[in-house]
Amino acid sequence: MKFTKLLIGLLLTSICVSSEKKHEDYIMSCFKSDCLDKKTTWQHLANDLPTCLKATKVWWSGKMAQLPVTLVTQLSADRLKQLRAQCMAWKGPLAAALHLPLIAGAQLSSENHFKIQAAAAAIDQLFKEMETEGSCQLRIALLYEAVANERASTLYPVNTLRNVARLLADTEAMANIDVDMLPSVSLSTDLSNAGNAKLYVDRCKEKQVYVIPAFETLCGGPSFADRISTMSKRELGPHIQDECLSQFRARVAPACHNATDFARWFSAESAYSIQYQESFEPWVISDRMDTPWYDVRYKGYGKNKIVQVAHMAKSGFTFNVHPTGFLVHRPHPESLARKSFLRVKFKSKNNPALLKDSLYQHIEDLWAQHNASLVSGMYKVMVDDALTECVKSLPWWKPSRH
Ligand SMILES: *[C@@H]1O[C@H](CO)[C@@H](O)[C@H](O)[C@H]1NC(C)=O
Ligand SMILES: *[C@@H]1O[C@H](CO)[C@@H](O)[C@H](O)[C@H]1NC(C)=O
Repeated sequence: MKFTKLLIGLLLTSICVSSEKKHEDYIMSCFKSDCLDKKTTWQHLANDLPTCLKATKVWWSGKMAQLPVTLVTQLSADRLKQLRAQCMAWKGPLAAALHLPLIAGAQLSSENHFKIQAAAAAIDQLFKEMETEGSCQLRIALLYEAVANERASTLYPVNTLRNVARLLADTEAMANIDVDMLPSVSLSTDLSNAGNAKLYVDRCKEKQVYVIPAFETLCGGPSFADRISTMSKRELGPHIQDECLSQFRARVAPACHNATDFARWFSAESAYSIQYQESFEPWVISDRMDTPWYDVRYKGYGKNKIVQVAHMAKSGFTFNVHPTGFLVHRPHPESLARKSFLRVKFKSKNNPALLKDSLYQHIEDLWAQHNASLVSGMYKVMVDDALTECVKSLPWWKPSRH
């Protein structure tokens, strides 16, 4: 009797072991390769070195993907509430890369390990809650970065993380959006219509993208943004009129979303095409395999999306606007990197000494250089080795579908 039980136990174990390798394990193993410069210093910015990220754990929803578009995002540990809000609003797969900077010596300290455990526990709690309460199908990768000091810890590797999160997507199309942007319920509704979804997915394969118009709220805090996300575009009108809602960054950076043509969107019955304009930085639905990667030299804050969109336009991608879906910014405390970037940007007009060795100056130079090389056709996006390795080894990234 005992022996039979043991045999059955052994059999079951071997079935489990030999059963298909899980998505989580694939991701963990493609992150195994070592980076040359393990610990980030400020000098890495000037030298344009890729950030070294270590994957510590991956969570992957057991729920079936409900939409053919994966929402892809990245965040620091203090933004988990925003991820939660996205998962409550979005009805499809949601893939996130969570970044944890650790000020470390030659080895990780026990305090460093404690921080990793605390982040993993917080993610675990959110993940379990979203498996039952959330409408999205959540996938999260927790990655840490060893940094030399406080200053180096502000070099948030936004584009490296955007690329990592995209690796967790396995649908035909994706939308790489920031964690503080809530997708409207109307977007999920439209995409859950199989005919519509197929049309978008097919067009995306032909180098077309669908811009999701972005708004920001000026009243009411996060709960007002949550409410806006449940409205149809017709219901937005009154809130625009009473100035509680506006085109994203309309005042501070009008060029960034101008090409979307919001006036046209409000009366559009179907998707319409638009022309790329300089500094355009929309969030878009695009093909998972063919969209250009984000350039990992952009860290901290500034131009990280602008260069990717310019690269898409230059590579022959054309832009449409989604007729019903939209994004709404969910307010949150400003990041340190953004604060310091903008401080240097504005104060350096009277005090040029601030520019020396600053993030702002470096990003401006990088963009001027890349903008010029885009024109001459010489621009080449930089990605890190871990990404290249993962794209090669992850089964759902094999280019066999076409
Ligand atoms: C916005 O786009 C329109 C064309 O669609 C153009 O005439 C206008 O100058 C643009 N405005 C800004 C701020 O870029
Ligand atoms: C980018 O390149 C275009 C085309 O050469 C040029 O008109 C524009 O001024 C450049 N912008 C920046 C910020 O360098």
